[in-house]
Amino acid sequence: MSTRRIATAIFALLILAAPVFSQTGVSANLALTPPMGWNSWNKFGCNVSDELIRGMADAMVKSGMKDAGYQYVVIDDCWQVSRDAQGNIVADPQRFPSGIKALADYVHSLGLKFGIYSDAGSKTCAGRPGGLGHEYQDALQYAAWGADYLKYDWCNTTTQDAKASYANMRAALDAVGRPIVLSICEWGSHQPWLWGKEVGGNLWRTTGDIQDRWEGKKEWSPGICCNYGAVAIADLNAELYSYAGPGHWNDPDMLEVGNGGMTDNEYRSHFSLWAIMAAPLMAGNDLRNMRPEIHDILTNKEVIAIDQDPLGSQGRRVAKDGDQEVWAKQLKDGSRAVLLLNRGVAEKNIAVNWQDMGYPEHLSAAVRDLWQHKDLGTFTGKFGAAVPSHGVVMVTVKP
Ligand code: GLA
Repeated sequence: MSTRRIATAIFALLILAAPVFSQTGVSANLALTPPMGWNSWNKFGCNVSDELIRGMADAMVKSGMKDAGYQYVVIDDCWQVSRDAQGNIVADPQRFPSGIKALADYVHSLGLKFGIYSDAGSKTCAGRPGGLGHEYQDALQYAAWGADYLKYDWCNTTTQDAKASYANMRAALDAVGRPIVLSICEWGSHQPWLWGKEVGGNLWRTTGDIQDRWEGKKEWSPGICCNYGAVAIADLNAELYSYAGPGHWNDPDMLEVGNGGMTDNEYRSHFSLWAIMAAPLMAGNDLRNMRPEIHDILTNKEVIAIDQDPLGSQGRRVAKDGDQEVWAKQLKDGSRAVLLLNRGVAEKNIAVNWQDMGYPEHLSAAVRDLWQHKDLGTFTGKFGAAVPSHGVVMVTVKP
């Protein structure tokens, strides 16, 4: 073989091996499909306790959510109150009287995984002690407690470099030898989609916080930007489709399904949009107390299968005509998931043309409705349906 051929062969080998090197050690192979679970923040804010988290873990099993694929039970902000003389993080002794380890053990005993929250800065967003300067010490503590997931926030970080801060926390987590999903929560301010995968983040928030409403961007208070309704978040997250894939996902924030601020139709749309965007599905409602309609949305296995498709491709908007939109996602078997979304105030007919999703016009394909759980027949060239206001029709199209 000539030197040039040998060099080409080595180069090809390096290219093939690159994905293996990009995420190494214990954190490789985490979150190969978007993480699914429950997080305390959207419904309960700082009102977290041992009793609440245990109740939610029980409900995740009893409600059938565990069977539907939900796995992580995550305590968000406010479980921590101080650091001790050695700098160890201290959990609120009133709210978590048995300690975090006992709680994590309980969650694990149900066959679920346990997640915790901290912040890359000096204080969390709710003003509790942050992780800055304690990264390795905290990683050891989280591993000793049995944490499987860390959501790492971005408040009070002053002049810190975002990429370096998250790389540091990933290195700390890897050093303790327990596989821990790293959820980067810096709201998209430093474009984490450009570096999140490289630093071993498994998901990264792409926007400011979601609020339980259909649309719009609102300042928290004058001059303090911003929270977003479900479709406003979807608009921001949609354009980032090329950055998502197995092990590293765009995170348009946790679900509001069931929290009371939207109609059931709107919640179905919110859930469908998250599924077609291969977003993490972190429920944020009270699982102990769900109306049947909310339960049916969160446990719709056909829609969840779209989110969890092993190809890991983030779907995208392929057509738009005013308030009528068509979204499509390629699936591993070559078929497509399609979302017909009506953002308007009156019912409208919306159609997907095969060509909009990369299929030739003459192709015949079987269409199945994922909310009605019904085969609709074989269609050629296009498929259309009446879509209610703020609603969706979600189907698979299989040639
Ligand atoms: C930030 C995050 C939220 C939540 C709160 C907790 O606002 O974006 O998801 O974790 O902090 O204080």
